[in-house]
Amino acid sequence: MRGLTIVIMLFTVILCSPLYAQKADDPKMNQFITNLMSKMTLEEKIGQLNLPAAGDIITGQAASSDIGKKITEGKVGGLFNIKSVSKIRNFQKVAVEGSRLKIPLLFGMDVIHGYQTVFPIPLGLSCSWDMKLIEQSARIAAQEASADGICWTFSPMVDISRDPRWGRMSEGSGEDPYLGSQIAKAMVKGYQSDDLGKNNTIMACVKHFALYGAIEAGRDYNTVDMSRIRMYNEYFPPYKAAVEAGAGSVMSSFNEIDGIPATANKWLMTDVLRKQWGFTGFVVTDYTAIKEMTDHGLGDLQEVSGQSLRAGVDMDMVADGFLTTLTKSLAEGKVTKAQIDLACRRILEAKYKLGLFEDPYRYCDDHRAQTEIFTSENREIARSIAAQSVVLLKNDNEILPLKNKGTIALIGPLADNKENMTGTWSVAAEFSKSVSLLTGLKSAIGNDASILVARGTNIVNDSILDSRISIFGKPTYRDNRSQAAMIAEAVEVAKKSDVIVAALGEASEMSGESSSRSDINLPENQKELLKALLAIGKPVVMVLFTGRPLSLTWENENVPAILNVWFSGTEAGNAIADVLLGKVNPSGKLTATFPQNVGQIPLYYNHKNTGRPLPEGAWFQKFRSNYLDVSNEPLYPFGYGLSYTKFEYGDLKLSSSQVKGNQAITASITLTNSGKYDGSEVVQLYIRDLVGSVTRPVKELKGFQKIALKAGESKTVTFTITPEELKFYNSDLKYDWEPGEFAIMVGGNSKDVKSAKINWIK
Ligand code: BGC
Repeated sequence: MRGLTIVIMLFTVILCSPLYAQKADDPKMNQFITNLMSKMTLEEKIGQLNLPAAGDIITGQAASSDIGKKITEGKVGGLFNIKSVSKIRNFQKVAVEGSRLKIPLLFGMDVIHGYQTVFPIPLGLSCSWDMKLIEQSARIAAQEASADGICWTFSPMVDISRDPRWGRMSEGSGEDPYLGSQIAKAMVKGYQSDDLGKNNTIMACVKHFALYGAIEAGRDYNTVDMSRIRMYNEYFPPYKAAVEAGAGSVMSSFNEIDGIPATANKWLMTDVLRKQWGFTGFVVTDYTAIKEMTDHGLGDLQEVSGQSLRAGVDMDMVADGFLTTLTKSLAEGKVTKAQIDLACRRILEAKYKLGLFEDPYRYCDDHRAQTEIFTSENREIARSIAAQSVVLLKNDNEILPLKNKGTIALIGPLADNKENMTGTWSVAAEFSKSVSLLTGLKSAIGNDASILVARGTNIVNDSILDSRISIFGKPTYRDNRSQAAMIAEAVEVAKKSDVIVAALGEASEMSGESSSRSDINLPENQKELLKALLAIGKPVVMVLFTGRPLSLTWENENVPAILNVWFSGTEAGNAIADVLLGKVNPSGKLTATFPQNVGQIPLYYNHKNTGRPLPEGAWFQKFRSNYLDVSNEPLYPFGYGLSYTKFEYGDLKLSSSQVKGNQAITASITLTNSGKYDGSEVVQLYIRDLVGSVTRPVKELKGFQKIALKAGESKTVTFTITPEELKFYNSDLKYDWEPGEFAIMVGGNSKDVKSAKINWIK
């Protein structure tokens, strides 16, 4: 009996070890790699762990030289950010014809929201709440990128963020872990499909593991400090979801976690990622993240490289730390051969799964490069996805849609601007091919109305800021006339119109990496233009381009209609015109809270109640948790977004208000389209755990459905709720549900909900 127990225990240990999981995957693959590794020298194995940037596209500060020589010497495992099939083929040729063991290279790229056909920035995409469309956008991105030689993308970025000062909020899906998890899964599925070996799928890389979106003060690359219970409940879920969806790789983040940078954090990379979540792919660092640990103050390059490998990191992006120090560290007993072997094996496995050993040129097909990229079909889909991502924030007196509105004055620095349509991280795109709002409106309107246009002001008037946001090759385009002259011209033009469309907002490089802002207002010079336009007395629609939630308190009070369009990609102008003119009824809902002012940040819907909450609807009360000078309310809450039609919610009905154990109940509500237009509404389910062993959020999103209704139509929308939806990590980090009272809430945003209570016992 004892013998049997030992055998079972041993078997369990082997089964749970990551190495086993890799081997168990595919015996043929395992055999192949064991065979190959038996021929590799130590230097060649270490070479596989090296990922230099060799490209046309600069996404960081350092760049490696002598790439060709290094490839022939077997010192490179992959390259990234090279554009075009011909260049990639040349590099691959050097590897498979010039190096001793002919091991093919991985070719990665930041294909973040489309390749050449660019979709809305991820924050915008998330506002569609449409998993099919999001998956489709990733599928098309993979199709185009793989046709141009790429087999690996550094996406999805799934960092939860509650801080719009952080420019990289534009790259993620907002503040909610549940929605973020659904999107993470959809993206991985879109990129990888069900077979990584096909030549039109690419390997996903979930990033930035972990907690990068929680950096202090919203300042990029800053410190993170967080309790474990918060990590597990509020920040980890989307990474975990992407891993469970089969993401082939994970990227470590720049920030520290519990005092140890993620890139050297064994608890994170081995205990959480591999042991708890069962991840079997490989981990790559972020750009120079190993080297940066010397600045974090963890030791010299040899020391930090050793720490990183021992933590469970497999591939070094750009730092040359593994390449230049691991041989020495092995000789000094600071790392083991098994650790190097394991990292090498994981990278070779990725190459095997991508089919590169079978055919190193699998992704280098000139015909595909010529016929499958930036096709009119892909652009049509991008147009419809873009229209789903815009969010109508305000629409007094039904100014929108612009029907029979006579002459339109299109005013603003983003009115006739192609450079800033695709947003951040559209590194493969040619911005000259984007559709500006002016072009989109003109082609949609034809001869039905006339459009007058004026720039009115620059995006920013501050030339230092302007030079900072133009560095990635997307000039904001300055007009050198004075602000007064430009505004005067715009006012003259606008006076001749029946309605003014003000195209305002950020330049695309005002958000994204290294683009934090301490002031999230519309630039002052644009506000001045807006005031001058409002003073004319004609209806004004503000079309707002932005990569983050802005503080729009003044605009909300003074501008009758606001349409938030993010940076919606190649087809931006066409898609925005579709919405402005009513061809598409907007249905986007915010996935990140818009604060009233920057001082409220972090402001998010799923906060805790505290011991001194304010009574519902109240503002200031002494000795309560609030501010003297602003209410606790957001300007626009999570989940918010208007439609041209009107949706009404009936009463919320639960199938039972007393439940025991592992049963399911339903929550149903009647949704009626009582307005004039057909439209879609994202119906949202929230739950509050009213009594817990630890404090619980005031509400958490647990489900949503996007419902299309014709004008006048009604439908009963039903959610099924099981104890799964009630689970959370408790103070022992155990994932379970606790019996007691729960509030079930359903509505069209996180604030306006119908609510009912339920008692769920074990
Ligand atoms: C960014 C990553 C990106 C990498 C490669 C880094 O600076 O943080 O998101 O994937 O560069 O371009």
